[in-house]
Amino acid sequence: MVVFTEKNVLSSHLSSLIKENKTIGFVPTMGALHQGHLSLIELSTKENDITVVSIFVNPTQFNNKEDLDKYPRTLDSDTQKIQTLNKPVIIYAPSVKDIYEENIASEKFNFNGLELKMEGKHRVGHFDGVGTIIKRLFEIVRPTKAYFGEKDFQQLQIVRTLVKKYKLPVQIIGCPIFRENNGLAMSSRNERLSSESREKAALIFKTLQKAKNLFTTKSAQEVTKIVEETFKKENEFTLEYFEIAEEETLTICKRKNKKKKYRGFIAVFIDNIRLIDTIVMN
Ligand code: PAJ
Repeated sequence: MVVFTEKNVLSSHLSSLIKENKTIGFVPTMGALHQGHLSLIELSTKENDITVVSIFVNPTQFNNKEDLDKYPRTLDSDTQKIQTLNKPVIIYAPSVKDIYEENIASEKFNFNGLELKMEGKHRVGHFDGVGTIIKRLFEIVRPTKAYFGEKDFQQLQIVRTLVKKYKLPVQIIGCPIFRENNGLAMSSRNERLSSESREKAALIFKTLQKAKNLFTTKSAQEVTKIVEETFKKENEFTLEYFEIAEEETLTICKRKNKKKKYRGFIAVFIDNIRLIDTIVMN
């Protein structure tokens, strides 16, 4: 398995594979790999000749410096985890300089308003950072297919919009959420939870499941209120938002429309660590 750290070297290596008509699968990550990431990588290796995994903690998508500083960086163990898959995988682990040179800044994007909702509302500028890095990585890697987790469903829809707007020649594949045994969605941030909080955080998915059940008989507003009250009772948790929104446009559900698909979206703090999750509601 090869680890590239420079975009020019990676790009010319990939050029020769592209000339041979090899398909390239791409899994962008920020590292601290867990089973969720590995499930994306495995799917990509099944569907493509070569898989590129990028490992890069992208500074421009963090609106909180402490969160950026504390983000786990574990390149050696990430490389080992990928190696044990024993599949044709190339790692791209660039420096900030290789990506941004002297200008660590985002481009500004309009994702048809998707960027202003939920994560975008609470993490201002976050999706400009995501758009900037994904566009650059796509230019470097030139993937046939790129794999994104439904855990970050808003990000997935934003990447789909990016691809449409810039007519990028890549197919975006959405992948199911990988969960711990207690239902907690796997996340690199889970590593920072105490073992007690990690157990307690099971409440997040339990509440989403309850919300889904309630949504069969109750309105979106009623369900939202019940979720908010659930977290108000729990001292360890601070709910940032729970919204039931339409899948395509992420517009909040005011009145149920049987023809539309809805998802519940949640962001919660526990131990000062921000976790997100989502569930199909109907
Ligand atoms: P990161 O949080 O490392 O996630 C990389 C990819 O793994 C994303 O597509 C994410 O949705 C997916 N993923 C994370 N946890 C998952 C889980 N439990 N089950 C399934 N998939 C999961 O998302 C980012 O990095 C960054 O924003 C990035 C796209 C790399 C741009 O910097």
